[in-house]
Amino acid sequence: MICLIPTPNLMGKIGFLFPLMVLLLLPPFGATLSAGSPNISTDQLALLVLKSHVTYDPRNFLASNWSTSASVCNWIGVTCGSRHQRVTALNFSAMSLTGTIPPHLGNLSFLAWLDIHNNSFQGSLPIELANLRRLKYLNFANNSFSGEFPSWFGSFTQLQSLYLDGNNFTGVIPSTLGNLSKLEILILDYNNLKGPIPAAVGNLSNLKWLILDENYLSGCNWIPFSIFNVFIHCRMLILELIISLQVIYGREYLITFLNYEY
Ligand SMILES: *[C@@H]1O[C@H](CO)[C@@H](O)[C@H](O)[C@H]1NC(C)=O
Ligand SMILES: *[C@@H]1O[C@H](CO)[C@@H](O)[C@H](O)[C@H]1NC(C)=O
Ligand SMILES: *[C@@H]1O[C@H](CO)[C@@H](O)[C@H](O)[C@H]1NC(C)=O
Ligand SMILES: *[C@@H]1O[C@H](CO)[C@@H](O)[C@H](O)[C@H]1NC(C)=O
Ligand SMILES: *[C@@H]1O[C@H](CO)[C@@H](O)[C@H](O)[C@H]1NC(C)=O
Ligand SMILES: *[C@@H]1O[C@H](CO)[C@@H](O)[C@H](O)[C@H]1NC(C)=O
Ligand SMILES: *[C@@H]1O[C@H](CO)[C@@H](O)[C@H](O)[C@H]1NC(C)=O
Ligand SMILES: *[C@@H]1O[C@H](CO)[C@@H](O)[C@H](O)[C@H]1NC(C)=O
Ligand SMILES: *[C@@H]1O[C@H](CO)[C@@H](O)[C@H](O)[C@H]1NC(C)=O
Repeated sequence: MICLIPTPNLMGKIGFLFPLMVLLLLPPFGATLSAGSPNISTDQLALLVLKSHVTYDPRNFLASNWSTSASVCNWIGVTCGSRHQRVTALNFSAMSLTGTIPPHLGNLSFLAWLDIHNNSFQGSLPIELANLRRLKYLNFANNSFSGEFPSWFGSFTQLQSLYLDGNNFTGVIPSTLGNLSKLEILILDYNNLKGPIPAAVGNLSNLKWLILDENYLSGCNWIPFSIFNVFIHCRMLILELIISLQVIYGREYLITFLNYEY
């Protein structure tokens, strides 16, 4: 199948921007928020249910520390906002935890920061998470999540950073992502995503980082022309199968790129 791809333009941009790839290794900055309704007991219950869904905690982080004798706000990995005394941030990155995400987590209505990257959480994500309307930062990278890429991610209208890389998400990239007008970072590499990049991605006018390689994105017009809106301000954009430095520069990149069209 022959597809029209504006490749020279693409190559120029990626070649030029390549040194910035190094920045990927740096942790992103973020923020927390708060505002006002249920209470901290709701949050405590949600986290106790989460704890009960953790099936393996080799270093006993949660087992010994998440005790009802202490305030939720003093639990390891939990941050509360000072104004409303509700949970605003969760950070369980790299704790070697195995488990699933329960629907109760969607009750953390003040949550702005959710980072559980680099663990072994698995299963699919419950739709109740769509209630986390204050989320600004969501990092599920490097776990074993599976199931279709949830289209309800379009509910996170405050979201600035979304990391889902290194999981087993399937299906297509939902066009509802076009609703995330504040999104600056979208990292989806190393999953099992297929199909084209939705044209709606071209509407993400604040996007600075877009990494989609190591998936099965394909099809004629899998790169919509609207993506060039993103190029204008994107500092980092990797679409597909970048294997080595050699491949990124020059003809070999072009060949790899075209071979991926089927
Ligand atoms: C939270 O609200 C419930 C009722 O919805 C109440 O029973 C409980 O005492 C409250 N807890 C705190 C810590 O205010
Ligand atoms: C839980 O961990 C936090 C942060 O490391 C610590 O400040 C707190 O004392 C611990 N609480 C318990 C009950 O071990
Ligand atoms: C999250 O937790 C990890 C490990 O406990 C720590 O290294 C990292 O600085 C934390 N990140 C934030 C934003 O608190
Ligand atoms: C990921 O977690 C493993 C242990 O679970 C640790 O050895 C590794 O350094 C972590 N990597 C990052 C980038 O956090
Ligand atoms: C929280 O969420 C769960 C499941 O989504 C629900 O059953 C529960 O009633 C909710 N509310 C509270 C206050 O825990
Ligand atoms: C992913 O997890 C594995 C195993 O825990 C670890 O060795 C690796 O460093 C992690 N990578 C990142 C990017 O966190
Ligand atoms: C994805 O699923 C495959 C097959 O079930 C498995 O071999 C692989 O380890 C999984 N990868 C992740 C990151 O969970
Ligand atoms: C997001 O965008 C889609 C169209 O792509 C629209 O149908 C949907 O109602 C929007 N809102 C949410 C919350 O996903
Ligand atoms: C992009 O946004 C504009 C204005 O909000 C809207 O009319 C258009 O349908 C969107 N395009 C896509 C592909 O979602």
